[in-house]
Amino acid sequence: MISTVLSTHSAQKILPQSGIQKEMLNIEKAYHALVSKTGKGNDFLGWLNLPIEVMPDEITALHHTAERLSAMAEVVVVVGIGGSYLGARAVIDALQHPFKSLLPNDKKPLVLFAGNSMGEDYHQALMDVLALKDYAIIVISKSGTTTEPAIAFRILKEHCEKKYGKEEAQKRIVAITDEKRGALKKLATEENYETYVIPDDVGGRYSVLTPVGLLPVACAGFDVRKLLNGAINMRNSLFLHQDYDNNIAMQYALLRYLLYKEGKKLELLVAYEPQLFYFIEWFKQLFGESDGKEGKGIFPAGAIFSTDLHSLGQYIQEGERHLFETVLSVERVNAHLPIPFENHDLDGLNYLHQKTIHEINLTAEEGTRLAHISGNVPNIRIIIPEISEETLGELIYFFEFSCALSGYLLNINPFDQPGVEAYKANMFRLLGKE
Ligand code: PA5
Repeated sequence: MISTVLSTHSAQKILPQSGIQKEMLNIEKAYHALVSKTGKGNDFLGWLNLPIEVMPDEITALHHTAERLSAMAEVVVVVGIGGSYLGARAVIDALQHPFKSLLPNDKKPLVLFAGNSMGEDYHQALMDVLALKDYAIIVISKSGTTTEPAIAFRILKEHCEKKYGKEEAQKRIVAITDEKRGALKKLATEENYETYVIPDDVGGRYSVLTPVGLLPVACAGFDVRKLLNGAINMRNSLFLHQDYDNNIAMQYALLRYLLYKEGKKLELLVAYEPQLFYFIEWFKQLFGESDGKEGKGIFPAGAIFSTDLHSLGQYIQEGERHLFETVLSVERVNAHLPIPFENHDLDGLNYLHQKTIHEINLTAEEGTRLAHISGNVPNIRIIIPEISEETLGELIYFFEFSCALSGYLLNINPFDQPGVEAYKANMFRLLGKE
């Protein structure tokens, strides 16, 4: 049983019922192309069965590696970019204490990230910290040739070898890459690093439920079995319900496609919990790289409310009407912080006495929804009971599945990214690469 609920009433209202009926055949065709693996890019559908195919001994191996690294390191640096880091970061940030590094008794290593930019100051600052801490490195690249992580890894590898000596450094580095190909594979074999494989038929942005996401998540102390169970629950539901009325991925994919056809070219994924910031970043990459091609595709954007209501709010309410909103709504949080009573009520907040911050946040959510709908911003809600490994697993699989369906509705291949090469070709030419 899944706990995720999709609510689409307000978005449906702006669409003629006949439009949904007319496209019903297309979404069913897209669904069958996906599950029967007959659609575009069908050699990259390994992610469909990932959660049910991970073997218990693979999970045990991941746990052993995570324990080994945790025992030797206060910090684990994950080197990777795009699909090789966003999934892990999304899950870890959603689950971990936001001020973890300041907690004195937290024994799990702090997971930091490198190689997702070429910020020199950032990487210097990271090494300044690593000089003071015991650390390990997980280097992730499917192709094994991506410039940003390769540069970061070369620098960090040298740092690690200087600090610990070559032999010890080799024990502190784990590589996650292709089974046979690529510079990282070659390097890992030569240096004898412990290595995990990214399956051939799983693209970077669909790889969070492989060791790419699972190992960093396990290092941060979270339960990867629960994450996979959440994904399994969602998979079961999406495979069982093959009809539009009961399949929430079909509903979401078709509605966003119809909204797109009505001129809503931008989707704003909104969360009211700031720890979901990187989950939104993961979503942006998943949909941006999958759907944005051949002159088509919804532009995936994101916002944290109510924070961004004080920056983007004006535009959303009254700017150009080319956007719709998908809200990730979280029913329960862990904390309980009621507003205290004050005799003099100088700040005028006594009317909120005993309401919790979360209750007020949910009310802000409801008020914003009504305001945006009346401002002609269609609203889709994805409701989860709480933020946990299970619900994140559900959401990951739900968005991956919906994203693939969305690509098929646009009649494009959702699993390639030819456009990403353009900047690389120029950069390499300008750098004089042979
Ligand atoms: O989704 C994708 O395929 C990309 O975002 C890749 O994950 C990203 O470019 C990193 O590639 P690699 O893992 O080969 O270094």
